[in-house]
Order: sequence, then structure tokens, then C-alpha cells
Amino acid sequence: MKLNPLLQKSSWLESGDIRPYVFVRPENSIANPGARHNLDWFLHEPIYKNPLDLSEVDFAEHIYWIEGKAFGPAGMEMPRWVFYDCAVVPGFVAGFACRASKLPEAMRKVLQDRPGSEWVPLSLFIIIPTMRRGEWVAHNLCTINSLLPDKKDHLYGLGFLSKAFGLWYANVEQCTGFTQWGSPAMKLHSHYGYMEILGAYAPIHSHAKTLTYRANISTTVWEKFFTREEDMGFLENYEASEFIIDPAHEKSMIDLQHRIERHEGPFFLSASEIAEKKLGESLRVYRPKKLF
Ligand SMILES: CC(C)(COP(=O)(O)OP(=O)(O)OC[C@H]1O[C@@H](n2cnc3c(N)ncnc32)[C@H](O)[C@@H]1OP(=O)(O)O)[C@@H](O)C(=O)NCCC(=O)NCCS
Repeated sequence: MKLNPLLQKSSWLESGDIRPYVFVRPENSIANPGARHNLDWFLHEPIYKNPLDLSEVDFAEHIYWIEGKAFGPAGMEMPRWVFYDCAVVPGFVAGFACRASKLPEAMRKVLQDRPGSEWVPLSLFIIIPTMRRGEWVAHNLCTINSLLPDKKDHLYGLGFLSKAFGLWYANVEQCTGFTQWGSPAMKLHSHYGYMEILGAYAPIHSHAKTLTYRANISTTVWEKFFTREEDMGFLENYEASEFIIDPAHEKSMIDLQHRIERHEGPFFLSASEIAEKKLGESLRVYRPKKLF
């Protein structure tokens, strides 16, 4: 099978030395992976790892290492018990792993040396099923790209495709998640389905300036991450409201949160607008057009 031409900037998907992985306990295995979303992006069979298996501890340690380096500076490193209790026992981790013998030098330098590992994870996307049928929570996403100072060493789309793979593999209909206003991750999270703002401010989170979003998963939106085409479906059905979110000002988040609580929504964000703006810039808040 040939790589979908849309993904030419992510040609690392092709060789088979970097393959998707699924780190899941066998009882949680997904029935009919990939059956819901029609997609030809993932050319190679995933590598399966069982997080409860002692022989896979090194794989988990690699995951911890990347996660700790990526989130440590923001004080959001995942405690080990959170990974165990809230992630790999109820849900699963997906991502991409590289054959250890083929690891590029730049990556080898930032990873821990663990002789004997055959596959080394380069990214992680943790996803957990919720009590609502079809809805999952995206709990964590990070990649080795964020640890590589020189962009020429990056694997383009590693973060975007790690989440895409997890959503595709688990036949996810609806995905809820969290990110901090102004985070680079918003450029990824807004491209899996129209991004509804479920919560604009979360003082019970460790970072109050957290966006809680929900998306009905639609692979036609995924394509726009690569093509950067304006989404005509979004423009036809949603219009800018008079509200904005300014990542530097909590008041804009609290005001919108009050509106959500008064059921004045639903409110959405535009993926094209997030893609074209700088991280700290204000974002317009959209609402569905009234179609008479
Ligand atoms: C955010 C993160 C997951 C993105 O993954 P990635 O593998 O670097 O990104 P991808 O290659 O999939 O996508 C690249 C696109 O993401 C956006 N992006 C990634 N890092 C960015 C940054 N530092 N600033 C601005 N945009 C950024 C850009 O749109 C970029 O595309 P472009 O270069 O064509 O503009 C990764 O940087 C990371 O692990 N960060 C630390 C942990 C974190 O913040 N996780 C998100 C928690 S919600």
C-alpha cells in the first residue's frame, strides 16, 4: 500500500521502522479496530504491548521519560499512579514507536539508553472511555518532537497522527479533552472534528486557564491539518459571535464560562483561525448559525 499523498510531509510513516503501537491490557482490546472511520493513513500493523506484563516495563519507562521531559517544565509531569490507575488500566496508550536499531542520532541523544528494547516509543496519546456511550477522554498527548531543538530532526505530524491513530483505532465517535489556552496543542486538537467549548475556565484543574473541549470525530476535518484549506462546512454552519478569548486574560474565560453555564451556547472554535494565529493571540468564539 502507498502512502496517502496528503501525508507527504509525514513520509516517516512509510518505511515500517516507525510503526503505530497500542499499549493496552488484553481484556480492553478494541473490537474491530478502525471499522468506524474510513481511512488509509496507517500502512503498518500496530505493535501490541501489555502494560501489565513485566517484560514490557522498559516500554513504559520510555513513555514516562518522554512525558516527564515534555510536561516537567510546566509542572504537569504525570505521577506514576495516575498513569497506572487512570490511564493504562481503564484505557490505553497509542502512539508511534521506532525500531531501536534505526533510531536517529538526534533522538538517541535525548532518550534514555535502555539496552534490550526492540521498539522505542516516540509519542504517546492516552485515551480513556467515559460513562457516556461513544465518548472518550483524551488525557495526554506528547511527542519527542518537543524535545528536539532542531526542527529538521522532527517527524512532521507525529503528535497529530498519534492522536489520529488512537481515535481511528478505537472507533471513537466523540472525544472530550483539555488543554491550556494558548498551548501549541490547540493547533492539533482543533483538527479532529468541530471543537465545542465545553468549559472555558477550570479553577478545579491545576491550571485554571484550561479549555475543556469536545469534538464529534470526523476525518474530513483531519485532512485540513495537512492541506490547511479553509473548512467550508464550518463557515457555512457557524458564525463568529461577539465574544473572544484572550489567552492572557482570565476575565475573557470566566465571562464565557458564565455564558456556557447560562446555556447561551453552544460555542465553538475555528480550526483554521487557530492554525493561522500565533499562540498568544485572541481567538474568536463561534456559534451555530440560525438556519431558517
Ligand atoms: C504539542 C505537541 C503534542 C505537538 O506535537 P508535535 O509532534 O510537535 O506536532 P506535529 O508535528 O504533530 O504538528 C506540527 C504542527 O503543530 C503545531 N505546533 C507544534 N509545536 C508548536 C509550537 N511550539 N508552536 C506553535 N505551533 C506548534 C504547528 O501547527 C505545527 O505545524 P506547522 O509547523 O506546519 O505550523 C508536542 O509539541 C508536545 O509534546 N508538547 C509538550 C507537551 C504538551 O504540551 N502536550 C499537549 C497537552 S494538551
